[in-house]
Amino acid sequence: MQSQQNATSQHTSHVPTATSVPANPSEQAAVSSRQDQDAYIAHLKNELRKMQALAALGELTSTATHEFNNVLMTVINYAKLGIRNRDDASRDKALSKILSASERAAKITSTILAQARNRSEAMEPTNLESIIRDSMVLLEREMRKYRVAVEIEIDEATPDAMASGNQIQRVLLNLLINARQAMSEGGTILVRLTPSSEAGFVELIVRDSGQGIPREKLPNIFDAFYSTKDGPDESGKGGTGLGLAACKEIIDSHQGRIRVESSVGVGTAFIIRLPVATDAQAAA
Ligand SMILES: Nc1ncnc2c1ncn2[C@@H]1O[C@H](COP(=O)(O)OP(=O)(O)OP(=O)(O)O)[C@@H](O)[C@H]1O
Ligand SMILES: [Mg+2]
Repeated sequence: MQSQQNATSQHTSHVPTATSVPANPSEQAAVSSRQDQDAYIAHLKNELRKMQALAALGELTSTATHEFNNVLMTVINYAKLGIRNRDDASRDKALSKILSASERAAKITSTILAQARNRSEAMEPTNLESIIRDSMVLLEREMRKYRVAVEIEIDEATPDAMASGNQIQRVLLNLLINARQAMSEGGTILVRLTPSSEAGFVELIVRDSGQGIPREKLPNIFDAFYSTKDGPDESGKGGTGLGLAACKEIIDSHQGRIRVESSVGVGTAFIIRLPVATDAQAAA
C-alpha cells in the first residue's frame, strides 16, 4: 500500500490592501502592527533564504573539495608511475589517466563556481538536464562509496523550466543525499526528467529503493527541524531537519509543487513539478 503526502503550495496572499483603513484608532494600531509583523516576517524569511543559500554553498564546497582531493591523488599517483616507468606504454597510460582526471577536476571547479557566482539565483529558462548532470559530478564518488547506483532518464522532449538553476541544484542535492542515506545497504536511485502530464509543467522525480517513510511520519517530513537521523553521518551530512523544508520553500517560490510517495521497505519518490519557460521568457 502506497502512502502519499501532498505538499502543494497554497498561494494565499497576505498583502494588506491600502483601501481598507479602519476608523477605530486601536484597530488601526493593530493593523499597523500586523503590517509591521508581516514586513518583519518577510524580512526574516529573506534572511533565512540567504543563510540557507550560504549553508548549501558551504556543504557543496566541502563535497567538491573532497572530490577534488580525490582527483589530485589520481594525478599524483599516475605522475609518479610515469616517472618510474620510462617505457612508452606506461607513460601513455599515465598521461591519459592524468588527462581524464584533470578534465574531471575542471568539471568539479566549474560546477562549484557556477553555484558560487555564475549561475543565477534569478528565475530564467533553465535546462534541468545540465543541473542533474552537474549534481552527479559532485556526488559520483560518494554514491560509489555507499554502493548506490544512479540511473538518469531524460526525455529529450522536456522543455526548459522557468527556474533558478542554483536553487534547483540545491533541491536535487538534498534529495539525492536523503535518498543515499535511506539505503544503508546500498541500492538504486532513479532520477527522471520528463514533460509533465499536467500541461505547462516539467516533472522531475528522484526515486530510491531505500527504507521508505512510515505513513504516520509523512505529514512531518517537510517541517523545519524534523529529522529521524542521529546527526551527521561519517560524510558529515544529514540530521539538521532543514533539507526538505528548504526544498519545499524553493519549489513553492517557483510556483511549482513537490510531493512524496513512499512505501516502507520498498522506497521513496519525490515528485517535483516546475513551470515550463514560455517562448517569451526564453526570448527575453
Ligand atoms: N528518501 C528518503 N527516504 C526515507 N526517509 C526520508 C527520505 N528523505 C527524507 N526522509 C525523512 O525525512 C526526514 C527529514 O528530511 P530532511 O532532509 O528535511 O532532514 P535530514 O535529512 O534529517 O537533515 P538535513 O537538514 O541535514 O537534510 C529525514 O530525517 C528522514 O526521516
Ligand atoms: Mg536531508
